[in-house]
Amino acid sequence: MVLRPDSTPSLVSPDISDRTKYADTPLKLGILASGNGSNFEAIAQAIKAGQLAAQIQVLIYNHPEAKAAVRASHWGVPAVLLNHRDYKSREDLDGQIVQTLQQYNVEWVIMAGWMRLVTPVLLNAFTNKIINIHPSLLPSFKGMRAVEQALAAGVKITGCTVHLICLEMDAGPILMQAAVPVLPDDTPETLHARIQMQEHRILPAAIALAEQIQKYVTI
Ligand code: GAR
Repeated sequence: MVLRPDSTPSLVSPDISDRTKYADTPLKLGILASGNGSNFEAIAQAIKAGQLAAQIQVLIYNHPEAKAAVRASHWGVPAVLLNHRDYKSREDLDGQIVQTLQQYNVEWVIMAGWMRLVTPVLLNAFTNKIINIHPSLLPSFKGMRAVEQALAAGVKITGCTVHLICLEMDAGPILMQAAVPVLPDDTPETLHARIQMQEHRILPAAIALAEQIQKYVTI
């Protein structure tokens, strides 16, 4: 990550006061989800509540049974199934994802529970415009089963992270984090449920900030 010389030295409190001037031109989001889609729902709710000036152009999902697709149809959002099993390689899948996102005029890609590794095919098509949510305080507990990893490590605080995607897994510049205490009798399910409450708060907020932050950040 490089801060441009003419930029603010802080990524913590970017000036979002001029965000309202974009109100007439909502961010065009494409959401990628593999499962339940509660983060998709949180984004849709934030838009409806006027907390996020955006519109969801399309949902792309990779498991035919993903509940995210049902949620999309409730919100009147087009849902496109791109089943990873139908593609010979990660690059082939990402190529089809890029084509679909471009077809729906997507500007920002939101990985809201997207459980596939990203290739340069997707990264290069949306440079610095792909946002991911991960259920840990990165750089701790990257990869799969982050909540279980936190419990196994015995940490007393964990949380969630919204960050820009780069080629290295769960490693791009951090946009926002929220901390969640680990309780003595937590199971992966109870802890994940409390982490998700924070995810639903910070993911829409970070999307609203991302456009501003992007002016100062290059990967
Ligand atoms: C979320 O907890 C998200 O952080 C996690 O998947 C869940 C999806 O929930 N993502 C990852 O683990 C990515 N490495 P949802 O389908 O209800 O939005």
